[in-house]
Amino acid sequence: MIDFSFSPAMLMMPRKLPHSAWLGHIPFASWLLEVQRPELIVELGTHNGASFLALCQAVEAQQLSARVFAIDTWEGDEHAGFYGNEIYAELRDYQQRHYAGISEMMRMRFDQALEYFADGSVDLLHVDGLHTYEAVREDFESWRAKLSPRAVVIFHDSCVRERGFGVWQYWSEISKQFPSFEFTHTHGLGVLLVGEQQPEKLLHLAGAAARGEFAAINQLFDSLGRNIKNVEEIERVNGGLVAAHNEIGRLNQEEARLRAALDKNIEDSHEQIARLNAEEAQLRALLDKSGEEAREQMARSSLEEARLRGLLERNAEETNERYAAVESQLPALAQALSLLERRVLDGLEGSRGLLNEAMHTEREASVASVIESVIPRLEEQDRKLNHLMRPWWRRLSGR
Ligand SMILES: C[S@@+](CC[C@H](N)C(=O)[O-])C[C@H]1O[C@@H](n2cnc3c(N)ncnc32)[C@H](O)[C@@H]1O
Repeated sequence: MIDFSFSPAMLMMPRKLPHSAWLGHIPFASWLLEVQRPELIVELGTHNGASFLALCQAVEAQQLSARVFAIDTWEGDEHAGFYGNEIYAELRDYQQRHYAGISEMMRMRFDQALEYFADGSVDLLHVDGLHTYEAVREDFESWRAKLSPRAVVIFHDSCVRERGFGVWQYWSEISKQFPSFEFTHTHGLGVLLVGEQQPEKLLHLAGAAARGEFAAINQLFDSLGRNIKNVEEIERVNGGLVAAHNEIGRLNQEEARLRAALDKNIEDSHEQIARLNAEEAQLRALLDKSGEEAREQMARSSLEEARLRGLLERNAEETNERYAAVESQLPALAQALSLLERRVLDGLEGSRGLLNEAMHTEREASVASVIESVIPRLEEQDRKLNHLMRPWWRRLSGR
């Protein structure tokens, strides 16, 4: 049975809990700082800062004089996924407000940061960049010279065997070369005691691990870590609930707005329909009136036509009657004309006889001259009468 004493540092509850696969290791990280008391902490791979902020908080809470450096491109990688600048911006804002005095964020590749650290200066190195075998090996070996005699190196994801993760493989090699122990919960965390000057408590755990007595410690920190993971999950779910609640509120408002708009639309439509109905009635009345007027006009026209037709018929009748009357009078007229002509001719004949008689007597010479003057006038009258009467006479008598 391993002898292990409890410390309140194990119970540190992170102030900020970004969603991360690292949260379950925070109780151990806090305890580690208490035991190791590092001066210089370097993290290779920070993303949204779960491990970085926990280390900062532990430094602050334990009033250590350590400085914490977070190195990352904050662009992501094949295993963490690639992400936007907002991750860096949010973390930077938080770090500046809470841990500006004890920490620094270096936005660059791990190898580019090497020149800013003296050899033998780093007491705690957290390797959590790309998780391929080659990348982890490169990260450890390139930073090895920077490690101090008290150096501890922790490797995250030492238990993941999928998607090309190779930390487990490198850990199986490197863990044989130094005192070490490994947590198997929360994707695994290998703890490598690289420096020769190590706190007794860490060597004690490494010894326990070597003897196969580490399971209880692993379980203890797993349980403590689960507490933090649960809190984060509750916060996340609560955040989701708050967001959902807000969304429901927003949707309710939106619904009320849409309903009001709908009601107004319906009201407008009703008014529109009423207006259209009134207009339709007006038009229908106009149409009816026009139809009536047209019908009246047609009736008037029919009456006028009938009247004209009647007039026409009466005219024709009267004409026929008059024509018949004239026709009936024609024989009498013809007879009268014939008589008149006879009389005129007889008169002429008589006048001529008288004239001849008078011409034989001298005493009647003057009368003869008078008569002589009358004769042309009588002939003229005869001629005119002929001229007037002949056509009638011919037509009536058929000659
Ligand atoms: C697994 S995440 C880090 C997780 C973080 N420690 C936590 O607590 O959640 C890996 C990070 O390493 C960064 N990274 C990978 N390779 C890198 C390199 N060569 N130089 C700088 N950053 C690198 C990625 O941008 C990514 O943000």
